[in-house]
Amino acid sequence: MRKHIVAGNWKMNTTVAEGVELAKAVVAASAEVPADVKLIIAPPFTHLYPVAEVVKGSAVGLSSQNCANKEKGAYTGEVAVNMLESVGCQYVILGHSERREYYGETDATLVEKVKLALAQGLSPIFCIGEKKEEREAGRHFEVVTEQVKNVLFELTPEQMANVVVAYEPVWAIGTGLTATAEQAQEIHAEIRKVLAEKFGELAQEISILYGGSCNPTNAKELFACPDIDGGLIGGAALKADSFQAIALSF
Ligand code: PGA
Repeated sequence: MRKHIVAGNWKMNTTVAEGVELAKAVVAASAEVPADVKLIIAPPFTHLYPVAEVVKGSAVGLSSQNCANKEKGAYTGEVAVNMLESVGCQYVILGHSERREYYGETDATLVEKVKLALAQGLSPIFCIGEKKEEREAGRHFEVVTEQVKNVLFELTPEQMANVVVAYEPVWAIGTGLTATAEQAQEIHAEIRKVLAEKFGELAQEISILYGGSCNPTNAKELFACPDIDGGLIGGAALKADSFQAIALSF
């Protein structure tokens, strides 16, 4: 059975003190979430150390929102995967559309990041998704297929087994527009089909999360779809009660 995952991407929000409070509230809320739903939080880098102390011993996983594409050295402002591992991260969000769009992340860089993360024992939460104009032009299948092939097809099956995929249509992120369950399901099924071309049966084991204005109101319908294994949550992850309500939507 595929893992159900609800991951909160806090983006560039909260101070350290606020983040620690939010993490405590998520840990408390996790007590009511069934054990077969994995909760993950992804605070900003500055928060990881104190938040790791909060989630220690709980079922809540810890993720960063990015990592460097180099192992170590003279890369001012970057954070390496071994630093993330040493602070207690088990996951790293990679290839988020905001990183691709505002910070010029390319598939080539993402291959490096994904491989470094895996080598350090971290699971990448690898994001893909089409922009509004690409969907309007009917190119959404093509765009996500290319994103999968350019990065994930560079992995061995052993590596791929530790990757979580997140489909996030760019037009739905932070906009209040959600893909309909039908739109999301058809593209999730397609992503799984593409993964199966390279990885065969393993594709059935890979969790594919939906992201983009997912909230307590629409999560149930989305999570009921056969190929949607959970969510990557932005805005609604900044409150423990809405994050919990999403996790209770399976
Ligand atoms: P949103 O963000 O839930 O605020 O749309 C999702 C994401 O970008 O991961």
